[in-house]
Amino acid sequence: MRIGVLTSGGDCPGLNAVIRSVVHRATVDHGDEVIGFQDGWKGLLECDYRKLDLDAVSGILPLGGTILGSTRVRPEHLRDGVERARGHVAELGLDAVIPIGGEGTLKAARLLSDAGLPIVGVPKTIDNDIASTDVTFGFDTAVGVATEALDRLKTTAESHQRVLIVEVMGRHTGWIALHSGMAAGAHAIVVPERPFDIEELTRAVGARFEAGKKFAIVVVAEGAKPREGTMDYEAGGTDVYGHERFAGIARHLSVELERRLGKEARAVILGHVQRGGTPTAYDRVLATRFGWHAVEAAHRGAFGTITALRGTDITLVPLAAAVERLKTVPAERYAEAECVL
Ligand code: F6P
Repeated sequence: MRIGVLTSGGDCPGLNAVIRSVVHRATVDHGDEVIGFQDGWKGLLECDYRKLDLDAVSGILPLGGTILGSTRVRPEHLRDGVERARGHVAELGLDAVIPIGGEGTLKAARLLSDAGLPIVGVPKTIDNDIASTDVTFGFDTAVGVATEALDRLKTTAESHQRVLIVEVMGRHTGWIALHSGMAAGAHAIVVPERPFDIEELTRAVGARFEAGKKFAIVVVAEGAKPREGTMDYEAGGTDVYGHERFAGIARHLSVELERRLGKEARAVILGHVQRGGTPTAYDRVLATRFGWHAVEAAHRGAFGTITALRGTDITLVPLAAAVERLKTVPAERYAEAECVL
């Protein structure tokens, strides 16, 4: 078999582990040839690729980022490029294409799959918002980074009797906020699934000070918004890929909380530090298993699917179902965080 692999969309710890696993399983166990497209779909559209053998993937298991590079592609460019992609797949004699990516990448994968290309997708995102898989690799690493940051921020917040509002990633969903907030014992967790009321939030944080505590830590997902009519907050519009731009919710909250509580408040935006660096052991294992199963799926001709974790098993889910909806934080899970919001 000849297999093409690419990484697309925002990077994520564990991408290299998938690439390595695909190359190992395909070349060692099946005698396949693997090529890697440079910079995501762009590489497929421009036929920019290189051969991936065992040497090419040697030592990459613990590396963050992606040795193949990644870019975002505007949906209309990809729609226009379907014929070009089909042509390149035929020209290169590819029997399977394995795109590794999040929501946007999997939507693009579906488009190409519907056009008849042999696709087996691998889901990735630190946001953990792909509904068809219990977990995506990268999430555990991001939660670990955010938790460590929260632990560190607690000590400095206490020294200076401050309220620290810590913004974590999560454009549509609050999984990183929920998990890191629970793990670090944050005093309030604000997620996009549950628009917040600034008065309630002020009361919750204020109650802590009234109880004699000298500091507070609030974790907020970047996509969180105030309940309509409760606080002035202008959305940041959208970028060229149709993604919402964020207007700095932590900074807005720090201004509001400082004003309302009369306590010094500071915003900390963790940003891309959550996506960089080495993946945790959990993410390396999940990524490796996804790569292994993607190659197996290609050999079985199970195209138009993505790998998914269900319980402890890896299974295949149709691409169509994979991109149907996002996995949001359910109310019951939020309630478990024992938040007062
Ligand atoms: O989709 C993962 C994600 O990390 C989001 O949480 C975040 O909003 C986005 O990527 C940032 O992407 P970019 O690197 O393009 O700014």
